[in-house]
Amino acid sequence: MPNRIAAKITGVAGYVPPRVVTNFDLEKIMDTSDEWIRTRTGIRERHHAEPGVAASHLGAEAAKKLLAAKGVSPEEIGMIVVATVTPDMLFPATACLIQNRIGATKAWGFDLSAACSGFAYALTVGAQFVGSGAHKKVLVVGADIMTSILDPKDRATYVLFGDGAGAVLLEPTTSDAEGIIDFAHDIDGSGGCNLFMPGGGSLNPPTHETVEKRMHYVHQEGQQVFKYAVRRMSELACHLLERNGLSSRDLSLVVPHQANMRIIRAMQERLGVDDSKVMVNIDRFGNTTAATIPLGLADAVEQKRLRKGDLVLLIAVGAGYTTGAVLMRWAY
Ligand code: ACO
Repeated sequence: MPNRIAAKITGVAGYVPPRVVTNFDLEKIMDTSDEWIRTRTGIRERHHAEPGVAASHLGAEAAKKLLAAKGVSPEEIGMIVVATVTPDMLFPATACLIQNRIGATKAWGFDLSAACSGFAYALTVGAQFVGSGAHKKVLVVGADIMTSILDPKDRATYVLFGDGAGAVLLEPTTSDAEGIIDFAHDIDGSGGCNLFMPGGGSLNPPTHETVEKRMHYVHQEGQQVFKYAVRRMSELACHLLERNGLSSRDLSLVVPHQANMRIIRAMQERLGVDDSKVMVNIDRFGNTTAATIPLGLADAVEQKRLRKGDLVLLIAVGAGYTTGAVLMRWAY
């Protein structure tokens, strides 16, 4: 009997817009300090897109870079799953815009909204279509222009986020020594009120009033999100490892969502992994929502921190609440 088909990541690329905004730049436009931002979050700088640059532009750049590096032609892509909470517009889907921009003429696809867990969810969805045999090449993209929904008057959220995108290519494998092993995702809608954007959807369509009340921006109860993220990321990671007869000692690398350095350190302490096994690049990018994990993977590859067969855990919490964990053996 043939082995089960699993999906493996065979390539990854990240793209951030060129403009770097440091904490010192923010000091000039709001009542904040480099010291506060660094010590509370670990962020030193982030990238901001210029006006007119949208999530599909960043996503397409990451996808083009990935396909060029892999020598894969866009027509070979069967499916595109895009994780984003800042689509170019409500419709058409960002996946359609990226598909057109990169010339993936044989692909279908769609967007998926799970905020900071979006990339983990999109990866799992894409992997099912590879595992079922439906597609041999699936593009999974995480792309967000967080600056499009940040209130420049709210220092408690404005300093945390950046713009960016990342993409991975999923292909099939029948080897147990590589590929995605398992995933664990959950949602808890009771936490929706702690991180949300009230305006612009069907509940509060845009009006002068919604603009005046600043409803088209991120609203956040930072400490609630912080506590939930630490607890739920470590719980779900432990559950996923245990279910597969593994422990945190078996992990070669954890690539966590980059929301706050203190969240990452508290989570890894609960999990029992030391700094050398945790990918961190929040200092350079801030929280890029759906893009943090692929940007982390791209950095890990560039820094040669991943080898074929390594056990890798991706873990994220986001608005919703959403929590996502994916366990895999690195394939190249
Ligand atoms: N600069 C200077 N001071 C600030 C800033 C700022 N940018 N922002 C807030 N402050 C002030 C507050 O006004 C407050 O002042 P006060 O004591 O005079 O009232 C003080 O700093 C402390 O504010 P807190 O909100 O208590 O600060 P806290 O230590 O909780 O840190 C933070 C805030 C960084 C937002 C933290 O709660 C956090 O990271 N939460 C997680 C949120 C997150 O990462 N969300 C991203 C999306 S979801 C996800 O990715 C998991």
